[in-house]
Amino acid sequence: MSVPISIAVVGLGYWGPNLARNASSSPSVHLAGICDSDAQRLNAIGSRFPAARRHQSLDSLLDDSDVEAIAIATPVATHAAIARKALQAGKHVLVEKPFVTSRSEARELAALASRVQRTLMLDHVFVHHPAVQKLARLYHSGELGDVTYIDSVRINLGLLQNDVDVLWDLAPHDLSIIDHLVGRPPLSVAAVGNSGGQGTPTSVAYLHLDYGDGLLASVHVNWLSPVKIRHFMVGGTRRSALYNDLDLSEPLKIYDRGVDVDHDPEGRRRTMISYRSGDVVSPTIPKVEALQNVINHFAECILSGKEPISSATQGIRVVEILEAASISLARGGAAVELLAV
Ligand SMILES: NC(=O)c1ccc[n+]([C@@H]2O[C@H](COP(=O)([O-])OP(=O)(O)OC[C@H]3O[C@@H](n4cnc5c(N)ncnc54)[C@H](O)[C@@H]3O)[C@@H](O)[C@H]2O)c1
Repeated sequence: MSVPISIAVVGLGYWGPNLARNASSSPSVHLAGICDSDAQRLNAIGSRFPAARRHQSLDSLLDDSDVEAIAIATPVATHAAIARKALQAGKHVLVEKPFVTSRSEARELAALASRVQRTLMLDHVFVHHPAVQKLARLYHSGELGDVTYIDSVRINLGLLQNDVDVLWDLAPHDLSIIDHLVGRPPLSVAAVGNSGGQGTPTSVAYLHLDYGDGLLASVHVNWLSPVKIRHFMVGGTRRSALYNDLDLSEPLKIYDRGVDVDHDPEGRRRTMISYRSGDVVSPTIPKVEALQNVINHFAECILSGKEPISSATQGIRVVEILEAASISLARGGAAVELLAV
């Protein structure tokens, strides 16, 4: 197998054309095909990518031996069946978030990919954002000190979906970033939420994750907010960092601000608290579209056989949290324990 990898995109609704556009402009892949069961959609998007072969059925796409890999951007309920068929046909697979609808499907696909020796990667697109990559390096270098909390807010007047609630639609973004930093599942998950009105799915949700060892994470996702906020804050004992996805010029800021706690050296059992108000640093972040990094990383993993950073294992952990969050929502916010993945 050699560069460029021949790839096809399945599902050409809202998101699929972004994958096709990035695939067609990437030096690592060649957009060999596009597929949508809706003929009108297929032809409308097909006219933008004249070199890509058009397929109205998955079977016809999978029969095309020129296609080495597929990217799935169909509704989540179809992801598992399409990914399974593609892996069985010997294709490498990139799946949109949310990966699948259950932990058992996620595990089954991960095992299948490993059995047939094909790359299975998730489009957890924010994990591939240059600002998140920088944040991860900071996190793992210890420069932030002991991280005690992660607080993520992703709110907007959003498109109410009819097949998923706001947790399954938006929280995979936050949960995959958290997983990329922390690298292990939380001990427990609790979630509360509200619908946007009768007959609508949960549209506002607050999710609390307890990772043990003094680390808590909180995720607020909301389709009903009149303002758009995308703040991802990591609080450490030495430094804190804020990734603001809407700040295009300075998406990441590192704050030398916080509270220092000292115990009275004379042993009078007084705690001395002082406030630190140091510099705010805004590191240079390369201006690369995260989805371009996703496509290039997918090709690199196919070629080298290495595990993607947004791997099926990460996908399993994110789906497991979402499943637990749904149980917690139904139980009015009671904490649900997770089994280690
Ligand atoms: N990574 C991101 O930031 C991001 C953003 C938006 C959507 N998404 C994800 O992308 C996926 C698609 O979302 P969307 O909003 O584009 O959906 P959509 O409903 O707009 O488009 C889905 C398309 O898939 C086609 N389709 C459905 N079943 C098919 C099948 N079996 N074979 C071929 N085509 C089929 C439909 O005809 C439609 O054109 C979802 O998983 C969603 O969560 C990801």
